[in-house]
Amino acid sequence: MTNLDRIDSRITLNNGLLIPVLGLGVYKSGSKTYDAVRSALDIGYRRIDTASLYENEEAVGRAIIDSGLKRKDVFITTKIWNTDIRSGKILEACERSLELLNTDYIDLYLMHWPVPDKYVAAYCEMEKLLDKKLIKALGVSNFLIPQLDNLLPKCNIVPALNQIETHPYLTNVSLIDYCIKHNITPEAWAPICRGTIISDPVILSIADKYSRTPTQIVLRWHLQRQTTVIPKSVNQKRIAENSKIFDFTLDDADMDLIYDLNSNHRTGPDPANFDF
Ligand SMILES: NC(=O)c1ccc[n+]([C@@H]2O[C@H](COP(=O)([O-])OP(=O)(O)OC[C@H]3O[C@@H](n4cnc5c(N)ncnc54)[C@H](OP(=O)(O)O)[C@@H]3O)[C@@H](O)[C@H]2O)c1
Repeated sequence: MTNLDRIDSRITLNNGLLIPVLGLGVYKSGSKTYDAVRSALDIGYRRIDTASLYENEEAVGRAIIDSGLKRKDVFITTKIWNTDIRSGKILEACERSLELLNTDYIDLYLMHWPVPDKYVAAYCEMEKLLDKKLIKALGVSNFLIPQLDNLLPKCNIVPALNQIETHPYLTNVSLIDYCIKHNITPEAWAPICRGTIISDPVILSIADKYSRTPTQIVLRWHLQRQTTVIPKSVNQKRIAENSKIFDFTLDDADMDLIYDLNSNHRTGPDPANFDF
C-alpha cells in the first residue's frame, strides 16, 4: 500500500477503481447513523460502509446528499443479505439498496456471507450488476480460503475485496496473504475489536511510544499490512480520533509486537460454522 499520508488516501482495486483506505462503519449505529455520517464527511472521510442488514441505508444516503459533496467524491459500500442470496433475488436486492441510498450506483457491492450451496450462483448473478452499471466493483465478505478456492475458478470476475473480521487478536495472516496473492484487497471489520483493544497493555505501551491513542496504533497497523479499515463510531470525537492515522509510521518491531497478540479470538461468528 502506498501514499498512506492523507485521510482520503486511496488504493486501486483489481478493476482499477480507487477506494479510500479508511471508511466509517455504521453497523448498529441506529438512529445516530445520519449524524455520524455527516460528522465523518465533515472531517474528511470519503467512504461509508453499510449493509442491507443494518437497516440504515436510507440515513446514509440522506447524509451524503445533505453533506453537499458530489456523489463521485464519496465511496459507498453496501452488502446483500443472506435471505436475498438464498432466494436468488439479486437484482431486486440491489435495486432496493439503490433506492434507499437514493443513488444511481453502488461503488462496491459485497456478498455479506458465503451462504453454503448458494454463494457461487449468487456471485455469478451479482456479476451482471456490473454490466448493468448498477455497481462499480463487486466483492465478498466473510469468505475463507476454501470458499475462495471454490469460487475463483467458477466466476468471471475476481472479487475486488474480501471484508473479514481481523484485528490484533485475530490476525488472520494466511487468509490475508491469500487475498493479497490473488489481488483481492483485504479489508478489516471490527478493526479495533469492537473497542476492546483500548485497554491492551502492549497496545497502550506502543501508543505511549508514538504519542498516539490505542485505536490510532491499531488502525495504522492494519494499513501497513495492506488491509483497509472501516472503524465504527457514532461519537464525533472518536470518529475524528480514528482518522488521525496518516502522519506516522509504525516500525517493523512494533508491527510484530501487535501480530504477536493473536489469539484467534473472534467477536463475531466463525464463517466456517455460521448459522446461515
Ligand atoms: N462484513 C461483516 O460481516 C461485518 C461484520 C461486522 C462489522 N462490519 C462492518 O465493520 C464496521 C466496523 O466493525 P464493528 O462496528 O463491528 O467494530 P469496531 O469498528 O472494531 O468497533 C466499534 C466499537 O468501538 C467503539 N469505538 C470506536 N472508536 C473508538 C475509539 N477511538 N475509542 C474507543 N472506542 C471506540 C465504538 O463505540 P462508539 O460508537 O460509541 O464510539 C463501537 O462500540 C461495522 O460498523 C460494519 O460497517 C462488517
